Amino acid sequence: MDNQIEEVKKRIDIVDFIGGFITLKKSGRNYKALCPFHQEKSPSFIVSPDRQIWHCFGACSEGGDVIKFLMKWENITFYEALKELAKKTGIILNQINFQDKTWQKKERFINMNNLASEFFSYILFNQKYGQKAMDYLKSRQIKISTIKSFNLGYAPNSWDSLRNFLRKKKFTDEEMFENGLVIKSEKENYYDRFRGRLIFPIKDSRGFIIGFSGRILDNSTKEAKYVNSPETPVYHKRETLYGINLTKESIKKENNVFLVEGEFDVISPYQYGFTNFVAIKGTALTTEQLLLLKRYTEKITLMLDMDEAGIESTKRAIEEAERLEFDLRIVSLSSGKDPDEAVRSDIKIFKKEISKPVPVYDFLIDIARKRYPEETSSDKKKIADMILPFIEKISNPIVKSYYVKKISNILNVDEESINKMLRIINKKEKYKESNKIKFKKTTKSNRELIIEKYFLSYLFQKENPFLFAEEIFKIISPNDFSQISFQKILNLFLKYKQEKREFVLNEFINYLSFELKSVFDELYLFSSIENDLDQENINKLVLEIRRNSIKRKIKEIIIKEDNQENKLILINLNRQLKELEKNIL
Ligand code: CTP
Ligand code: MN
Repeated sequence: MDNQIEEVKKRIDIVDFIGGFITLKKSGRNYKALCPFHQEKSPSFIVSPDRQIWHCFGACSEGGDVIKFLMKWENITFYEALKELAKKTGIILNQINFQDKTWQKKERFINMNNLASEFFSYILFNQKYGQKAMDYLKSRQIKISTIKSFNLGYAPNSWDSLRNFLRKKKFTDEEMFENGLVIKSEKENYYDRFRGRLIFPIKDSRGFIIGFSGRILDNSTKEAKYVNSPETPVYHKRETLYGINLTKESIKKENNVFLVEGEFDVISPYQYGFTNFVAIKGTALTTEQLLLLKRYTEKITLMLDMDEAGIESTKRAIEEAERLEFDLRIVSLSSGKDPDEAVRSDIKIFKKEISKPVPVYDFLIDIARKRYPEETSSDKKKIADMILPFIEKISNPIVKSYYVKKISNILNVDEESINKMLRIINKKEKYKESNKIKFKKTTKSNRELIIEKYFLSYLFQKENPFLFAEEIFKIISPNDFSQISFQKILNLFLKYKQEKREFVLNEFINYLSFELKSVFDELYLFSSIENDLDQENINKLVLEIRRNSIKRKIKEIIIKEDNQENKLILINLNRQLKELEKNIL
């Protein structure tokens, strides 16, 4: 198996592969990009073609090979990722003695969902119980081809038809329960969750069926209009967008996605050729959903219900989307209909309206003005309180000053006052921020570590590390480094240098133990996040490393016994330090 893993990795170039998902920019020997796994403004995600690895030096500080990348990207297990990559390379994996319990379970649950979906679909198309669901779809003007594209189905009004079907397929009640298809009663009896409902399979972006939702056919019944799968090992509501599997290509092509409320608001527009819609299914937009969309588009157009709850969730969406640097717009359909009704009632008007979205800030300003319409100072203050926190967060200065102007006109105060208020809001935010835990970057105490890492990274990325080493190791030695692991790597490097005439990265790697290898990989990519340093700066860094080393030694000596010998050492160290500092300053 290990051989096969290596073989798969050998056949995939990590730069090509990751470059297919995100935009990589060459930086020295490596490539860098904005990390796709957390939000950031300057790139700290590095890919190394030499080592065929990636590493994020930002908030996630994770890294690995192609398999690890795909695992994180798709949120899948090791075996799932390996299987997908093997397929790409044409390698057939022998599955003997490979155990991936998590994936085995997920695969089994997805198979169960596939069978359930086939069952529901069979009933809809072929059974007399299915007829009323078919009639219902007809009444909503859904075509057969659309039903097929979305794999719609019907769950008969029975307590155990799906359960019986799945039992014949050798699934246990516990499995069906864990997968959300059956419910357990207080008396520990199992019964079907979806009964007498039109069924919508919910799929992930790759098209795997991860759960279901079901709608009643008769609006007059007292039951909930929609019933959904609960959280299961395969269905995670926060990460799911209904329709994404069918619409992702179009979202990418259009560089825009319409975010709508429900299943039919995706299905109807799709039928009429509007193929870049996804639904949040009546919940608040989550960060996970936004990160998923970020893979396909920079632009989001919200088309949510604008009731009080909708406005609140829009406000939250604005904050989150600005943080993730989406271009966010809003369409509110003038008819007051939802997208499903609107597209069916007049496709031309629909098309025109969705092509004229309003920037979210204008939308917010409209709402605030409608809510506080009086020409009084109190209403004006309320408008400012509602709007300015959003304006303060706008990252683009041109956009920001545009809105400052606009608001100053509306409130009838000069722009300077608005700017002053924004500064106050900013200060308050900063204060809140400062109470949170700080992330690293260069504080004094870790500067020592950072320059060592930087130096090592620079050394190993050099065209000819041996040549560079000749110069440098006249000034410092491996013992000058604060970390034992760095010392070890350098000692091995010097040993390697004695044995070989030429530095070959992937050969040198074999000199390192497993633990040192991972330290090395991180080191190797480290300097790519900084701008390239020139030789002069590097020389300064080397002296600084040496100085830190002497200072550490001085500290050690000071606490030792106060005898003649130590005194001499101390004097000597101090002299060295003085000499060095003359060169640095
Ligand atoms: N929803 C849900 N559970 C409910 C009610 C609603 O999951 N009990 C989700 C559904 O995805 C639904 C969406 O929230 O589509 C919006 O609900 P609502 O506006 O009430 O319905 P519509 O989308 O208009 O549904 P329909 O067109 O089928 O009447
Ligand atoms: Mn509707």
